[in-house]
Amino acid sequence: MKNMTVFLTMGIAAWFAGNTHAASPYAGKAKAAAVCAQCHGIRSPAAEAPFPVLAGRDVQYLRMALKQYRDKTRTAPIMNNIAGSLSDRDIDDITAYYSRVTP
Ligand code: HEC
Repeated sequence: MKNMTVFLTMGIAAWFAGNTHAASPYAGKAKAAAVCAQCHGIRSPAAEAPFPVLAGRDVQYLRMALKQYRDKTRTAPIMNNIAGSLSDRDIDDITAYYSRVTP
């Protein structure tokens, strides 16, 4: 019985720990509004701006692009700087958000 309780407690703890790693589009929304929207906008960039649209894009693509900017396998000075300060968590949250926005 005691073993069963330990087992359940550990299982629940693992479930919570796993859950906190799930991407949060809500957290991503705040981060996107604070940083990314200055250039990329939310639904679309300013009409005359040369920045790519992020809204509604494939989440895997966005995540890959940001990791490439971060490790500089894709070079673009602005994005290398910005992605350099993003954690994996930030990338997951922001891409979860942008991919859900209707452009
Ligand atoms: C100061 C302007 C600026 C800001 C702020 C900015 N970006 Fe960018 N972003 C750019 C430019 C310019 C490019 C095009 C770079 C290139 O040619 O690869 C780009 C490209 C990208 C791409 C690649 C798109 C594609 O079609 O391949 C992604 C993804 C991206 N940005 C995500 C973000 C995210 C997420 C943020 C916020 C954390 C952000 N950007 C903030 C200017 C900006």
